[in-house]
Formats: sequence, structure tokens, C-alpha cells
Amino acid sequence: MARFLAQARFIIGALALALVLAVVAPAFAQQPSSVNPTASSVKEEQLLKGLKIISGRGTIPDTKSYNLEQPAGRDWRQFHEVTLRWIGAIAILAMLVILIVFYLVRGQVKLVSGYSGRRIVRFNAFERFVHWMTATCFIILALTGLNITFGKPLLLPLIGEPAFAGWAQWAKYAHNYLSFPFAIGVFCIFLIWIAGNIPNRVDAEWLKRGGGIVGHDHPPAYRFNAGQKMIYWIVVLGGTAVAITGYLLMFPFYVTDIHGMQLAQTVHAIVAVLFVAVMLAHIYIGTIGMEGAFDAMGEGTVDVNWAREHHALWLEQEMARTGPNESQRQPMVTPAE
Ligand code: HEM
Repeated sequence: MARFLAQARFIIGALALALVLAVVAPAFAQQPSSVNPTASSVKEEQLLKGLKIISGRGTIPDTKSYNLEQPAGRDWRQFHEVTLRWIGAIAILAMLVILIVFYLVRGQVKLVSGYSGRRIVRFNAFERFVHWMTATCFIILALTGLNITFGKPLLLPLIGEPAFAGWAQWAKYAHNYLSFPFAIGVFCIFLIWIAGNIPNRVDAEWLKRGGGIVGHDHPPAYRFNAGQKMIYWIVVLGGTAVAITGYLLMFPFYVTDIHGMQLAQTVHAIVAVLFVAVMLAHIYIGTIGMEGAFDAMGEGTVDVNWAREHHALWLEQEMARTGPNESQRQPMVTPAE
């Protein structure tokens, strides 16, 4: 009997102990620990900083797609959604304001000596073809590229989702396909005009005298003046930069990794928006900014007086080449009709 009572005491004691443990253990488990799910220590930002990259698992061969987030991706998004839009808006709007104010204050650069009636060939048919092919592609590339940067905040609310989706898709095709004639055009521009665009001492003097644009002076210049040389090098170097970075984007991950892709996009976008701003100034001076300038690229000839006022040294060279009596030697210089 005593043995039975001892066994019963042991069993009851063990059960009581188990019960106490069962009640107390979860309570212990709920005690505050070093990990608090709502504390900043486990916030996404900190996880990203700690882990650098958050990856999932996948079944497709492209393992890059398993990465869900990484700090560099968030920096890139901030650049694309905010910084780039500021840089682009400031560069383009500031240039427009400068050009409008300049036009209002300075007015058109006039042909002071008037039209002589004799014309001189400035750009041949091939040069004009290359110029207009590259320029047309540039304008379409600029509009379709800017749609990627600004379309969503500016255009989407105006035209609605279906129209925006359709336009954005065609814009993207145009941006991809017109990149080829554009790149070929930039390369041709490099080749056909390099000889006239090497900087020389005349350029320094031209710049010192305000180029005949700021003020009313007419500093001499060869075929291209210092301002045109700047445009030439911006087109050649800027065009090369957007082409290289653009093809890196168009053929993703063939040449570089994600960081290279982000860098390519950043460089492409910044060079592109600055390029657009500079080209606005070029378009201004070639149209309403200077009397008689458009003809050079429009029909390929300029008035001899225009050439004398803006490119006196080039006119001398051409006259020397074609001889004093140009009408007999057959020439670069022809009477106007
Ligand atoms: C060979 C020439 C070029 C190529 C191969 C090219 C290619 C590309 C590609 C693949 C993209 C990315 C499109 C996307 O995210 O779906 C892009 C974006 C862009 N491109 Fe070009 N492009 C070229 C020239 C230009 C030019 C000349 C301009 C402007 C003058 C320009 C302006 C832009 C802009 C503003 C973006 C959007 C940047 C952004 O917001 O992410 N591109 N380009």
C-alpha cells in the first residue's frame, strides 16, 4: 500500500510539473526578445542595407531574375523618378527661357550689308542629306526618349491609359529602330566635317569678340566658327555616348551586369537631356536667330555677303579656289535667280 501511495505521489507530482511547464513555457516565449518585428531593426531598409540584396528562388535559367530588391536598384529608381526629371526639366526649360530672353533683347542677327544677289555653295547634297537624316532621327529620338522620362507624369493624365499605352509602345519602337540611322548619321558627320572643325587660333579671337552673336561685331572665321565647332564636337561626342549607352540598354546584359546597366541608363539619360537643351540653341541660331542661315542647310547655298559677314576667311579660300572671275571658271559662286 505504501509503495502504491509513493508511486501515485510521483505520478501526480510529475503531471503537476508538466502542467506548470506547459503554462509557463509560452509565457516565457512571449517575453520581449532582442527581435521586435515592428522595430526599426527589421525594417525593409535596414534589411536591405544589412543583406545588400534580397533574393527569392526561381526555376527559369536567368538567375538574375531571382533578385527582388537591392539598394542600388532603389538608388536608381530615385534617380529615374526624381533626379533625372529635375535635371531634364531645368536644362530644357532654362535653355528655352534663355533663348526667348536673348531673342527679345538681341533680336535676330541681321545681314548688315544686305543681299548681293550672288550665291556660294556651302553644303553639297550629300552633306545636307546626312544633316537632315540625323536631325530628323534626333528629334524623334528626343521626343520618344523624353516620353520615357516625362510621359507618365505629364502625358498620361492628359490622354488616359489606353492612348498612352499605344503611343508609348510605338514611341519605343521608333526609339529603337531610328537609333540606327542616327548612329550612322553621327559617324558620317564626324567624317565629312572633321577637317573644318579642328580648333585653331582664329576661334579664340572669334570667342573674345562675342562671335558676332553677342554684340554686333563680325569676327572672321573659316568654314566653321568656334560656336559651330562646339556644336560639332557635342554632336560627335554626345552622339557617340548616347549610341554606346543606348545599345547597352537595347541589348541588356550581353556586355555588362546590373550595375553597368544602371550606369549606362544614367549616362544615356543625362547626356540625352543636355543634348536636347544644346540642340535647341542650335535650332534657334539656324532659324529665327540669324538672317540667311537656314538657306545654307535648306538649299545648300548662302549669299556672298552673308559668307563675308560670318565666314570671311572661308569665302577668301573659296574665291581663291574658284578664281577671281568665278562666272567664267564655273564655280562655287552663282548669281541668284
Ligand atoms: C544610337 C542612338 C540611341 C540608342 C541606341 C538609344 C537607345 C535607348 C534605349 C534602349 C533606351 C531605354 C528605353 C527603355 O527604357 O525602354 C533609351 C532611353 C532614352 N533615350 Fe535613347 N537611344 C539613342 C539616342 C537617343 C537620343 C539622340 C536621345 C535624345 C536626344 C535619347 C534620349 C533618351 C531618353 C531621354 C531616354 C529615357 C531615359 C529614361 O528616362 O530612362 N536617346 N534610349
